Amino acid sequence: MKLASSLALIFGLASAVIAHHGSDSSIVVIPSTPSIGPIKAQYISSSSGLDGPENKLSKINSTSLGDIWYFDAVSPDGKYSFIASFWASPSPSYTTALQNDKILQAQMILLADDNIYAANSIFADAAEIITRGDGSSGDWKGTGCSFSGAEDLSTYTLNFASPFDIVGSIVLESRAPPHYKCSPAKAGMDMALLPHLGWANAIPDAKASVNLEVNGTHVEFTGIGYHDLSWGDVPLFGYCTMYLFGHGRLGPYSLVWVEVEASDGSKTTSGYVSEDGKILATSCSDVVIDPEYDSATGKQLQGFKVKIDLGEKGVMDVELAVGKIIGDAGDFITGTGQLSGGLQGGHKYQGSALFAAFSP
Ligand SMILES: *[C@@H]1O[C@H](CO)[C@@H](O)[C@H](O)[C@H]1NC(C)=O
Ligand SMILES: *[C@@H]1O[C@H](CO)[C@@H](O)[C@H](O)[C@H]1NC(C)=O
Repeated sequence: MKLASSLALIFGLASAVIAHHGSDSSIVVIPSTPSIGPIKAQYISSSSGLDGPENKLSKINSTSLGDIWYFDAVSPDGKYSFIASFWASPSPSYTTALQNDKILQAQMILLADDNIYAANSIFADAAEIITRGDGSSGDWKGTGCSFSGAEDLSTYTLNFASPFDIVGSIVLESRAPPHYKCSPAKAGMDMALLPHLGWANAIPDAKASVNLEVNGTHVEFTGIGYHDLSWGDVPLFGYCTMYLFGHGRLGPYSLVWVEVEASDGSKTTSGYVSEDGKILATSCSDVVIDPEYDSATGKQLQGFKVKIDLGEKGVMDVELAVGKIIGDAGDFITGTGQLSGGLQGGHKYQGSALFAAFSP
């Protein structure tokens, strides 16, 4: 037991990049336990590796958020949805102080009409992440869970197999260019949503094809998909004091909005709109995100009002009405929604969306 854990520590200390294949490809192996000592975080983008771990954190120590590869999709009627996360994180929580010993786990929540299925993988012995171009492919060894991304971020495939409790595959075919909080995806951009929290949005919107099986039930749907990578050198709990997120599609438009606040007073409000593969806005100014709560209790989230200024093109003005709740941990809630709106004064569209809110 003692030997095993000290070997793990040695492996932890020796973690990092183990191979390079030319300048545009690398393999990183993340060990199963946190590393010891200070780590370095990077929040300025490089010319490639948008979805890879290499230019983000030097290592993951016990007081860092680590890396989270996040994926989701929602059907047009909001009745079907999945959220999958690949964690390399000792402290994966907004609501609780955690310093877990094992850091590599995959999780999925699946909404299928009136049923919600949730699966947590066993802890992986290691996560192997191959980065090619801007895309990454991650294998959480021994869990049955992996993802595989194209180097130009055009497609991602997620695979789930035994011993994971939900099996099958999910394909995301991107239809919106990647971006950072206030810029398109290019070198030298600021990727920090907060001073200690990075965010790279590889797939703001996609055609998602979901084909899964859980406990003998087949769940199949198409809808809109999404993928991002978050990382940080401090834990979320106690640092991130408010977080609002949503993405959706409205007619020809793909939308993503994020608002975060930290205990040190820093705050970012970011809005993204693209149309036909072209970015109309990826901005941290002239974006307003208003969560709306039940007027009687002041608590239950009813929806969002979001306004994103597109400059000459006008103002994107949309409303999300909360549909089905997927996860509810008190202060932290996630679910599907129906979107309506469009450019101010223009045609009004209807669409679907997925949101999350942490607002204690
Ligand atoms: C983890 O790294 C951060 C950033 O270098 C440092 O501030 C923190 O003290 C480290 N934590 C541990 C437990 O060493
Ligand atoms: C499958 O069914 C079993 C028995 O009812 C239950 O314990 C388990 O949580 C289910 N699995 C999922 C992923 O919902």
